[in-house]
Amino acid sequence: MRVQILPSLLIDSFLIEDTKRFMKILSIVGARPNFMKIAPFLAELRNHPEIESRLVHTGQHYDEGMSDAFFRDLNIPAPDVNLEVGSGTHAEQTAKVMLAFEPVLLAEKPDWVVVVGDVNSTAACTLVAVKLGVKVAHIEAGLRSFDRRMPEEINRLVTDALADLLLTPSPDADENLFREGVAPEKIKFVGNIMIDTLFQSLERAKSSQLLEKMELAPQQFAVVTLHRPSNVDDGTTLTGILEALGRLQAELPVVFPVHPRTRGKLAEFGILEKLAGWPYLRLCEPLGYLDFLRLWSNSRLVLTDSGGLQEETTALGIPCLTLRENTERPVTVTHGTNRIVGIDPAKIDAAVKEILHGTSFPKRIPELWDGQTARRIVECLLNP
Ligand code: UD1
Repeated sequence: MRVQILPSLLIDSFLIEDTKRFMKILSIVGARPNFMKIAPFLAELRNHPEIESRLVHTGQHYDEGMSDAFFRDLNIPAPDVNLEVGSGTHAEQTAKVMLAFEPVLLAEKPDWVVVVGDVNSTAACTLVAVKLGVKVAHIEAGLRSFDRRMPEEINRLVTDALADLLLTPSPDADENLFREGVAPEKIKFVGNIMIDTLFQSLERAKSSQLLEKMELAPQQFAVVTLHRPSNVDDGTTLTGILEALGRLQAELPVVFPVHPRTRGKLAEFGILEKLAGWPYLRLCEPLGYLDFLRLWSNSRLVLTDSGGLQEETTALGIPCLTLRENTERPVTVTHGTNRIVGIDPAKIDAAVKEILHGTSFPKRIPELWDGQTARRIVECLLNP
């Protein structure tokens, strides 16, 4: 065997490096809703010189408006690796992430892979890591809609079944995991990390000029987002929801930042021309985090099929009507300002009327949605 003698200088720097850094963490992001969950975690890691932090972007979302704008707004460092997988069917996208991530993981050899949320990249990277014997921590574990038609529900089930550390945002998530037989020592209730980002961004969002540019007065408009395949991929469902929005805009201007999937479907179903005839429905491109925060936080009400926005509106006490039949985030209904309205146009009309002309909502912020979740997560990783 050939013994290689290292120069003493090299040995010294190796030892110093070794004592300074005793943990390496590889964090994964892929799609828009991941960015606001990873940003405070990466910022907290910067306070820990003993942790080496690396970031992988799978490239599931790749547009300026769906990805780059969020890196800028949330001060997320440029990813160390971009897998550039792009769009595709679920199987294609999941498989492309797995194939591209495996060699990266083999080269990086981290102590932990940290995944967030419930997108295809979350489940794909978890599968790869677990099979290579690398520990996985899942931020936002335990949420369940109990609706397996939702691709995200499958991603949540797969990720939580495999991950080693399940970091939950609310006590209902712990209950779900207990019920599924997860060992209690793997589950840590740490609170909602997206609310860290929200609280940290409120001041900076005041410098957004979006309301002025769109000539909107606070409380004098509604905000809509729609992107779930179950709502936008079917022409009849989408038309029904839009007709309710048509009636709303006659009473209160509606701003609708349009997700690329939704824009494609509106064009495919030939609905865009019809919308052009509604003067107070304002379509725009997807917005960056700070512009969008300034928009919805000043609105009279939000109508959405997003998961994250149900939580954010609860944190700031803005009425939210969820255009879905269920939610994986029930504390937003029991504690917050969210109502599950579904997609029946008559029910949407009735719920809108109640908000504009009647009931006020309770405004309780759920436990541990306090802006300190990233700090608690890093403590859990250092002392699992
Ligand atoms: C994904 C997530 C969903 C999340 C949503 C937020 C899964 C299963 N779904 O759904 O949980 O709420 O992101 O946006 O992971 N497109 C672009 N540019 C992009 C990204 C997408 O033009 O940067 C277009 C493509 O035509 C693509 C379509 O939008 O086919 C849908 O994108 P995709 O990432 O497949 O799913 P989302 O609906 O965005």
